[in-house]
Amino acid sequence: MKDRTPAALNLRGETRYIDDLPVPADCLQAAVKLSESARGRIVGIDAASALALDASVRVITARDVPGINQIGFSVPDEPLLPEDEWEYWGQPLVLVLAATRSLARKAAALVEVKGEPLPAVFDAREAAAAKRFILPAQTIVSGDVEAAFASCAHAVSGRADSGGQEHVYLETQGAYAEIREGGKAFVISSTQGPTGVQRAVAQALGLPMSAVEVEARRLGGGFGGKEDQASVWGALAALGAWVSGKPVKLYLDRRVDMRATGKRHPYSTDFKIGADAQGRILAFEATYYQNSGCSCDLSPAIMARTVLHATGAYKVPNVKVTGYMCRTNLPSFTAFRGFGAPQAFFVIEAAIDALARAMGMDRDALQRKNLYREGDATYVGMPIARGRAEEAFDRLAEKLSWKAYKADIAAFNASHSMEKKGAAILPICFGISFTKRSMNQAGALVHVYQDGSVLVSTGAIEMGQQVSRKLARVAARTLGVPEARVSVERTSTLTVANTVPTAASTGSDLNGMAASIACAKIRDRLTAKAAAMLGEPLERIGIADGIVTAGGAPSRLGWDELIAAANQDRIDLSAHGFYATPGLTYDPATGRGAPFAYYVYGAACVTVRLDLLRATYRLESATIVHDAGTSLDKAVDRGQIEGALAQGLGWTLLEDLRFGPDGRLLADTLSTYKLPDFAFMPETMDIEFLPPVDNPAAPFNSKAVGEPPLQYGIAAYFALLDAVRAAKPDAETVYDVPFIPEKVEALLDGRRPC
Ligand code: MTE
Ligand code: HPA
Ligand code: MOS
Repeated sequence: MKDRTPAALNLRGETRYIDDLPVPADCLQAAVKLSESARGRIVGIDAASALALDASVRVITARDVPGINQIGFSVPDEPLLPEDEWEYWGQPLVLVLAATRSLARKAAALVEVKGEPLPAVFDAREAAAAKRFILPAQTIVSGDVEAAFASCAHAVSGRADSGGQEHVYLETQGAYAEIREGGKAFVISSTQGPTGVQRAVAQALGLPMSAVEVEARRLGGGFGGKEDQASVWGALAALGAWVSGKPVKLYLDRRVDMRATGKRHPYSTDFKIGADAQGRILAFEATYYQNSGCSCDLSPAIMARTVLHATGAYKVPNVKVTGYMCRTNLPSFTAFRGFGAPQAFFVIEAAIDALARAMGMDRDALQRKNLYREGDATYVGMPIARGRAEEAFDRLAEKLSWKAYKADIAAFNASHSMEKKGAAILPICFGISFTKRSMNQAGALVHVYQDGSVLVSTGAIEMGQQVSRKLARVAARTLGVPEARVSVERTSTLTVANTVPTAASTGSDLNGMAASIACAKIRDRLTAKAAAMLGEPLERIGIADGIVTAGGAPSRLGWDELIAAANQDRIDLSAHGFYATPGLTYDPATGRGAPFAYYVYGAACVTVRLDLLRATYRLESATIVHDAGTSLDKAVDRGQIEGALAQGLGWTLLEDLRFGPDGRLLADTLSTYKLPDFAFMPETMDIEFLPPVDNPAAPFNSKAVGEPPLQYGIAAYFALLDAVRAAKPDAETVYDVPFIPEKVEALLDGRRPC
């Protein structure tokens, strides 16, 4: 039989993304007119020349929104189309429809939005000084940092800065919309969160959510960029369809996508860290200035993840962290793989580096000494149960023969005057669950058809991470059928309602649990029927690999026969499953409790070779020891680790998301925005899984894998820093990512990088 798994379809080029979808003959194409300065007040919109271009052209503004012109749900600060002010360079101001895409884009360019300039702020610290905040600061205090610092033998303070990051999903944002019989809206969206799109469309069109159907088939990548920010495109397409009465497709070109949509949040952070004479960290303090951009979006949830990962993989008894969400006139920064945790990990590792230098201690010795141990609790009181931070670190050190490895690097550096090497270790401890408690829920709908084939629908969106393969495996194992009998259906708000976005690395955890609950209901009905058919007690009955077993031995009864008999007997072969993560007790008001279902552990070492003449570098190797629990699919998990590492390396070394002094995004094409590619990746990549463990919080003892390994990229930053120091021991330390060659060159030249 031809392989019909989503991965096989994709490989054969048979999958359809938004822009591949065939559309009805009367479908209009949409384009948006973007703002061309950072902030201004709209005084008039002149659409005359756009309308003169072609009879099919329609120009749609905020005034055409029939419902509520607002898609910001936690803070109402995101009009679908602006009514009087625009707030960043690249903001969609007007929607334009036309018979063809090129006409729509031409017409959009001809729309003239007249405005008066308004003062703008781009820097997070400047915004903080002006008290321009999205919401009040988030603070967690544990222990007594002042007293602890007073008792520290060593204490250092410093600053760490990290830049933004463009998602560069291969498929840009887009949606297809039509208004169906009875004025119901139907939308196909490239989104990680169909329910969010459904809610935005319903609100903008003034419809109940029950009159809006949103479907997401698959994404050509999301990486967080389509968690919240697909809603605007879905709602605009729906608005176009509503106003024109015709189907509408809106698919952004790369430049519009890069200008208009959010990216990873840049952070600027002040830290202070202190330890006793032996290097036991006693206190850590950090003030994070998050550049939130122009609207709230997911910024508070992201900041929550930052303040909950402030001490990385380390036990620190006294902690005080404060996170400011600073409102600036830049695109609204949003979810990006890691979701505020990479920013926190970078700061604690910078602090540890600074402390190690002040103490004249090896960084890795300081890291090792302070790792979380079994029985510890984090600074919010979450117990470290089945902790594996030390196990991962020690296995990595053993694998590398770390002492000899470091000695080899030192020998290389002593014998090479034009090249230097550096290597650094990065341990992770990454919390799995949405930081917003209410989001930790999922539903699934499972049908077994008369012929024994199985269909699973959940809220999980396939965006390349192979969640559909994992779900098929979970359903097959729970029901006891071969995986080939299971198909995983696209996500639709009709089949599963109130879904949370596929995000926080929980896609397979939450939806897998919901699917297995649904499958277990059907299995229980079937085993009862089988027991009756075979005349065996129920306890002896099982189903494995498509055969009913009795006392563990295959019986004469096969799956297909059992299904046919159950159907004849009028047994319900469908079930809905619902899962809500238990045990999440964290209260942000007190900063105490368990925010996560569990942690993912691991450790990575990256080795860098720096060319002192050119200030360029090669990544020699990455060695990773990772905790995938009892992996559902090692090939998939390995792919996720490699991909996450690539994005982590891009963030720390390469991707230079820069805005001009006027707030304009400077690199807004893929020819100017530099990304990691094959040639950039480490020459050798050695990924080892820690031995399987049990994990009751995910299906079949698996663990989430999507985001945690991104943090490993941070090892490369410190490896490169070491290589620079090997060449220039007195080089100033400026903790700042991305560590692009220009910055390396400045340090090697004895200048301060800017
Ligand atoms: N892998 C691919 N190929 N494409 C993606 O868009 N997104 C990442 C990660 N891996 C992504 C990916 C992000 S940001 C998250 S949160 C998880 O996948 C979401 O999927 P999961 O929860 O099913 O792992
Ligand atoms: N991760 C990703 N998305 C989210 C989270 C999170 O922790 N919380 C709310 N949305
Ligand atoms: Mo991932 S940033 O949680 O979509």
